[in-house]
Formats: sequence, C-alpha cells, structure tokens
Amino acid sequence: MADEVKTIGVLTSGGDAPGMNAAIRSVVRTAMAQEIRVKGIRKGFIGLLNEDIVDLNGKDVADIIHTGGTFLYTARCDEFKTIEGQKRGAEVCRKHGLDALVVIGGDGSFQGARRLSELDIKVMCIPVTIDNDVASTDYTIGFDTAVNTAMQAIDKIRETSTSHERCSIVEVMGRGTGHIALWCGIANGAEDILIPERYNGDMDSLIRFLADHIMENRKRGKTHHIIVNAEGIGHTYEIAEALERLTGIGTRATIIGYMQRGGSPTAKDRMLASAMGAYAVNQLTAGKKNQVIGISENVIRAVDLNEALNMVKEIDPFLYELSGVIRR
Ligand code: ADP
Ligand code: F6P
Repeated sequence: MADEVKTIGVLTSGGDAPGMNAAIRSVVRTAMAQEIRVKGIRKGFIGLLNEDIVDLNGKDVADIIHTGGTFLYTARCDEFKTIEGQKRGAEVCRKHGLDALVVIGGDGSFQGARRLSELDIKVMCIPVTIDNDVASTDYTIGFDTAVNTAMQAIDKIRETSTSHERCSIVEVMGRGTGHIALWCGIANGAEDILIPERYNGDMDSLIRFLADHIMENRKRGKTHHIIVNAEGIGHTYEIAEALERLTGIGTRATIIGYMQRGGSPTAKDRMLASAMGAYAVNQLTAGKKNQVIGISENVIRAVDLNEALNMVKEIDPFLYELSGVIRR
C-alpha cells in the first residue's frame, strides 16, 4: 500500500448502532475536503470479500446524520475469521486501490481489522456499538441513544407497574456487559440492577435476594419495584415467575430488544460520530495507521490497535456503588 493516502475504503460491521451513518458521513466529508477518494464497502467484511464496493461522494451522505441504522448495511461474516478470508480481503483492498480502510464497528470488527493490518493493509477503527464494551474509549457511538431509548421504555413500564402495584423486571441489551443496564438502572431509579460483571452465577440466591428486597420495600410503603436486568444474565421470564411465586406480588417481564439498536441518534452520538470520523481520516493523512479512535476524559484520542484490543473495560465502580446507595 502506498504511503500517501489518496483513496480510502469505509465499511460498517457487526451489530448496527445509531450514529453509524453520522460516522460514515464525517469520514466521507473530511476525506473529500482533503481531496481523498472514498469507496464504501457494503455489508461489512462479506461485502469486502464479494467486492460490493461503491464510490461515495458528499451527496451520497446527505440527509443521513439524523438516521439510525447504516446505509452501507452491516453483517457478520464467519469467512473473515479464516486466514483465507483475511488474505482475500487484503487482496480486494489492493485490487480496488484502497490505501487504507476505515472500519466502523465494535471489538469483533476490530479483530478483523487487526488481521488486515497484519497483511499490510492500513486500518483505522471507529468504535460504534450500543454495548459500550470497547475498552479503549470511555464511550462508543450508539450507547447514549440506546440508553435513552431503554430509559424511556422503562419510564413507561414504571407507570403501569405503579398503577397496578406490581413488580417489573426489564431486560436490556449489552451482550456480556452491563453498561446499558447500569446506566438505565441509575437513570430510571430502578430498585435493583443486575449486571454480569457483578453476578456470581448463583441464580437461586439472586432470586432470594430480590424477593427479600421486594418484601422489604413493600413494608416501607413502595408500590412498585423495577429490576433492570442485563441480557448477559438473561432468564428474565424465569426470574419474574419465581419472584411472583415467592412474594405473591404480580411480577411482569419485558425484554426491550432490538428497538435499542434503532432510532435517531442523540446529539451526543452525532457529535461523537462527527468528531471520531474526522479524527480517523486526519490520523491517516498524518501518516498514522492501525489505531482505534476513542474519547477519554472528554478528549478525542487514538490508541494503537493491538493495545486497544488487549485492554479490558471494567464497570465503573463509582457508578455501581452510587447506584446501590441512591436506590433502595
Ligand atoms: P462487533 O464488531 O459489533 O463486536 P462481531 O463480534 O459480531 O461484532 O464481529 C463482527 C465481524 O467481525 C464478524 O462477523 C467477523 O466478520 C469479524 N471478526 C470478528 N472476530 C474476528 C476475528 N477474531 N478475526 C477476524 N475477523 C473477526
Ligand atoms: O452488539 C450489539 C448487540 O445488540 C448486543 O447488545 C446483542 O447481544 C447482539 O448485538 C445481538 O446480536 P444479533 O443482531 O446477532 O441478534
């Protein structure tokens, strides 16, 4: 690949998230301002292998900053986990004259990008996933929108729960992590927050703890009890049934599901996407490669791709502790 970056490719991969379109737009517009050509690869790494590649210009990214989803489509591609798939991907990049590839997605997609970098393809990664599970950044694009969507749904559940003096257990997404659950739990004033990072796998004691907590709160005059559960713990319907049996109090389960992945991105996600997209292109034109863009202490930064993938994201202990103090 040439040292000077004249043409870049951009793709979205893994689970979609609000702000993906805003990130593509920022990459395209920033590149165009520097007279760099942009090629869009549709359907993530599958599209790369199938050479599903289109030229992108400023007009192609008009009117998308406010939309959820990804107009380049996204996919999961098992073939790209094989060395043959990765070699073919690198060949396609060379064949189409891509001097660098911007990969928009989560940790899994960045693993794919790392494989390409090992085959001498310059990559730049932008973290977009509702799960906020990329360790090298405080926030991923899409997290804020997903939390707001789930929060609004839980507010509505709280109203009906209170009217009927019921308990509600609500499952939110997050794959193996509890960032969405923790944020919603705090923002919704939930009575209990269940996250995989603080779960020891003993479902029976968890249910007994929750049942005792519900009864204790009833004695104190509380007319509802909201439990936010992360999908990484799951078993939401079983927990609801067990709690109703143990407490005698009507308990309903709701799994919010895919609506958390869609919707118009919040201002915060549009800002992050715009800033990180531009930063990614600027890093490439400054001669940098193989990095993950992120935000840390309110500053947009880049972290080496290998380092980023070796980092582990912990749940914020301060947030977890405060959530236990201010909810009861
Ligand atoms: P996300 O990027 O949201 O974390 P996934 O974990 O589903 O999503 O990964 C998206 C895609 O990235 C996978 O379908 C695959 O094509 C690619 N990928 C994931 N892990 C690897 C890996 N270890 N090596 C090569 N490619 C990978
Ligand atoms: O990574 C985003 C996410 O929505 C996770 O929260 C969830 O576990 C997963 O994707 C669902 O993936 P799929 O689209 O394959 O059902």
